[in-house]
Amino acid sequence: MSDFKLSTELPSWKKLQSIFESIDQFNVLEEFTKDPQRFEKYSKTFKNFDDSEILFDFSKNLINDEIKQSLLSLAKEANIEKLRDEMFNGDKINSTEGRAVYHVALRNRSMKPMLVDGKDTAKEVDDVLQHMKEFSNQVRSGEWKGYTGEKITDVVNIGIGGSDLGPVMVTEALKKYSQPGLNVHFVSNIDGTHLAEILKDLNVESTLFLIASKTFTTAETITNANSAKDWFLTKASEKDIAKHFAALSTNAEEVSKFGIDTKNMFGFENWVGGRYSVWSAIGLSVAIYIGFENFENFLKGAEAVDKHFTETKLEDNIPVLGGLLSVWYNNFYKAQTHLVAPFDQYLHRFPAYLQQLSMESNGKSVSRANVFTNYETGTILFGEPATNAQHSFFQLVHQGTKLIPADFILAAQSHNPIANNLHQKMLASNFFAQSEALMVGKNEDKVKSEGATGGLVPHKVFSGNRPTTSILAQKITPATLGALIAYYEHVTFVEGAVWNINSFDQWGVELGKVLAKVIGKELDDKSSVETHDPSTNGLINQFKKWSL
Ligand code: F6P
Repeated sequence: MSDFKLSTELPSWKKLQSIFESIDQFNVLEEFTKDPQRFEKYSKTFKNFDDSEILFDFSKNLINDEIKQSLLSLAKEANIEKLRDEMFNGDKINSTEGRAVYHVALRNRSMKPMLVDGKDTAKEVDDVLQHMKEFSNQVRSGEWKGYTGEKITDVVNIGIGGSDLGPVMVTEALKKYSQPGLNVHFVSNIDGTHLAEILKDLNVESTLFLIASKTFTTAETITNANSAKDWFLTKASEKDIAKHFAALSTNAEEVSKFGIDTKNMFGFENWVGGRYSVWSAIGLSVAIYIGFENFENFLKGAEAVDKHFTETKLEDNIPVLGGLLSVWYNNFYKAQTHLVAPFDQYLHRFPAYLQQLSMESNGKSVSRANVFTNYETGTILFGEPATNAQHSFFQLVHQGTKLIPADFILAAQSHNPIANNLHQKMLASNFFAQSEALMVGKNEDKVKSEGATGGLVPHKVFSGNRPTTSILAQKITPATLGALIAYYEHVTFVEGAVWNINSFDQWGVELGKVLAKVIGKELDDKSSVETHDPSTNGLINQFKKWSL
C-alpha cells in the first residue's frame, strides 16, 4: 500500500502547480539562449550491452532546472524508487490481482537470482528459453517436419492484445533479420476475415500454428484457434495436430483440453502481464522468425535498460526523465495526448504496441489507496510512422489548439541505404526539421517578410514552443529494439507510480467481454430483444433483420 492517497497531496505537486501558474510565458527557445549548455545538459546517452548507443534529447521540452528538480522531488515523494525496487524484488505490487510484476525476470540473461514467493525464477525462465531455442532452431533448419514430411514455411500466431501486438510489432521491426522462405502471420481479430485472408494462401502441410494466450480462455483467440484447427482437419487428422500446433500459455489444463500436447506448450507464470509478455514464450514467433540468437540480444537490450533504470540516480535516469515529462504535460499543461512518431518504416506497428502498454496500464481513475483520483492519469497515446504522418495529422500538431508532446524516433543507419543513402538523408532531415519547426515556429514578422499580407498572415504563423523528445539510435537492431521497448515500459511505470495507480491490472476490459457473451446468445435466433437500453435493442434488432 502506498504512503499517500492522491498525488495532489504531495508537496512537490503543489510546488509544480505554482511554478506552472507563474511561467505561462515559458519559451523553450529562449532557454537555449540563457543556457548554451542546455543540449548537453538535457540529453542523455544510453549505452547498450553491445556498446551501441541511443541518444535521448530531452532539451526541446518545456522545462528548466527548477521544473526538473521539482519533478525529481515529486518522484522521490511518490516513492518511485521504492516501488521500482519492489518490482525488481518480485513483490506483489499488482495489488488488485495479488501478483508480482516480474516481466523484468524474463530478460535476466545474467541469471542472477530473481525470486518470487521465495523461489528463484532464473532457472525456470532459462529452461523455457532453451526449449524455445531448440524448437525455433528445428523449425528454421527444416528439421521440424509437418505430418507429410514437409518443412514449415509459414508460422501463424493466433493471439490478441499482448499475445499479438508485441510479436507483430517486433517481427515487423526486425524483418531484416528474418530468414527467406519462412513467413510469420498474425491472426488476432475475431472478424473471420482476419483468419480467412491469412489461411487462403497457406498449405496445411507446411503451416505451424502457435496459439498464444496467457489465460487460454480469451474468446477471440480460442474461437480463431478452433477455426484454424477445423481448417487443418479438412486435410489432416487429429494425430497430426502435435506437429502443427503449439501453445504459448500459463494454462496447461486448457491447453490440453484444446487438444495440444503439453510437450508442445511453452509456459510462463502469472507474474507476466499480457502487455509485458513479448519477452516470454509469447515471443516464440519472434524467435522463429529472427533466430534465437537475435531474440536473446533483444532480451539483453531490455536487460541493459533495466540495469540503467535500477542503478542510475534519478536525475540521469532516462526512463525516469521520460515519465516525469509525461506527468508535467499531462497534469500541469493538461495535455490530453502523447504522440510517438517513429521515422522508421520497420517500426510502423510501434505506436500500436505502445498504445496497449501505456493505455491499458495507466488508463485508471482509482489510486492504489482505493480512492478516485482528483487528477488526470493515462494519456491518449497515438502515432504513425513519419514521414507519412507529416502528410496527414501533423497539421494539428503544428498549428492546432492542443498541446501534443511528441517523441520522434530515428536510427542513424538505415537497413536499406538505397539510392546512395538518399532516402535515409531525406528521412533524417525530416526528423530534425519537425522537432525544430515545432520548437522554433515562425512569427508574424517572418511571415510578413516572406511576402504574406493581410488576413493570410495569421494562417501562416507557427506558434512554436511545442515540446518534443528526439530519440536517435544508431541502428534498429534486436538489442536496440529491446532497449526502446524497455524504456517505454519504465516510462509507463514511472507515470503510474507518480499517479499512484496500479499500472498492472486491466479491470476496464471486463464489462464489455461479459456483455458480449450475453448478446452473443441473443444472436442465435431471429426473435427481437427488449432486455437492453433502447439504442442497444434497436441496433441488435436491426442487425437480426439484415443478417439472420
Ligand atoms: O482483454 C485484455 C487482455 O487481457 C490483455 O491484457 C491481454 O494482453 C489480452 O487480453 C490477451 O489475453 P490472453 O493472452 O490471456 O489471451
